[in-house]
Amino acid sequence: MNGSLALCFGTRPQVIKASVLLEAMRGCWSVTTLDTGQHYDFELNELLYRQLGVPRPDRFLGVGSAEPAEQTAAVMTGTAEFLRSERPTAVVVIGDTNSTLGCALAASKQGVPLVHVEAGLRASEAGLPEETNRRVVDVLAQLLCAPSHAAAEALRAENLPGSVTTTGDVARDALLRHMKLAGPPENQGSFALATLHRAALTSDRDALQAVLAALGEVSMPVLLPLHPRTNQALERFDLKSRVPVNVRLTAPMGYLESIAAVRDAAVVITDSGGLQREAYWLHTPCVTLRSETEWRETIECGANVLVPPLDAPGTLRRVAADQLHRRQETLWAPDAYGDGRAAERVVTAVVDLLDGRGGGG
Ligand code: UD1
Repeated sequence: MNGSLALCFGTRPQVIKASVLLEAMRGCWSVTTLDTGQHYDFELNELLYRQLGVPRPDRFLGVGSAEPAEQTAAVMTGTAEFLRSERPTAVVVIGDTNSTLGCALAASKQGVPLVHVEAGLRASEAGLPEETNRRVVDVLAQLLCAPSHAAAEALRAENLPGSVTTTGDVARDALLRHMKLAGPPENQGSFALATLHRAALTSDRDALQAVLAALGEVSMPVLLPLHPRTNQALERFDLKSRVPVNVRLTAPMGYLESIAAVRDAAVVITDSGGLQREAYWLHTPCVTLRSETEWRETIECGANVLVPPLDAPGTLRRVAADQLHRRQETLWAPDAYGDGRAAERVVTAVVDLLDGRGGGG
């Protein structure tokens, strides 16, 4: 194909998704990559590049951490300059982070067609930063690649200007591709895997303390790899001494270690959208520490149950045990988020978009 694409990303889950998108896109176009540097710690960035074989980005903005508006503004300014020098035919962004929003705004201001991968997810939780990001990006994009039929329906109901297509979830492509590198099972079924990183938990002492207490009630060892933000929150709120004895804190895991731990855990307890789906695909029961989830299909089939953080003490232990017992009854519909060929479908839709054929249905 004539032309070139710019693939923009900046956080750990985006590097994972970029790994499969980049390969599929390079089959058709010349692709330049931009890493905003929103995530910069070794475990959240460099380790992922190495494990997934992602080439170094053509441009690294190094925006780092900042208040959300400043971070988004730095991403937008850096991306605008990148787009002026690279002049891509289209820009591809992923997900709902501040990097996604900043890159999308830059593309829109420069008049470059925008493709949003993982479009159409919706939540109603007040103040959820990701919700603002994805709604704005969905309005700006010319092509909206939805990970599920429900996400595509939500987009169609909003009557947005962009073309909507259901591609499936590129995170599933990544999991299928890399699972074989994750090593043999270890300590299967003997521990719970927990992750916590969202603003709703890390900026609320009561919520974080409630979740820690509830993890202490779980009747098995809990492995808790700590996002740097959660680590800082534990220190800031003076909660390190409240970490229960059955909870083992570790540094953030690489992607391969993380998917191996999801596979081997008896149950996953998380506020991460990525882990909810990985648990689902790997048939590990999940408890989500939120009052809602964008990944509703996992709830509908019984694979995932919601427990709001403040309700967790006295509840999480029982729900986690129920989830373990119900595992056999769960209908693990394998293709709720596609069949592992989402990146290919994104490429086909981008070809159609650039050919003027709209981008899918
Ligand atoms: C971001 C995304 C979130 C996504 C998550 C994936 C937004 C609004 N949030 O959350 O949707 O699920 O990435 O992991 O974009 N920090 C470090 N080292 C790093 C990166 C961050 O120490 O490499 C610390 C800093 O104190 C920083 C804080 O973590 O202020 C939050 O980082 P940020 O990138 O703003 O948000 P995440 O919580 O990582």
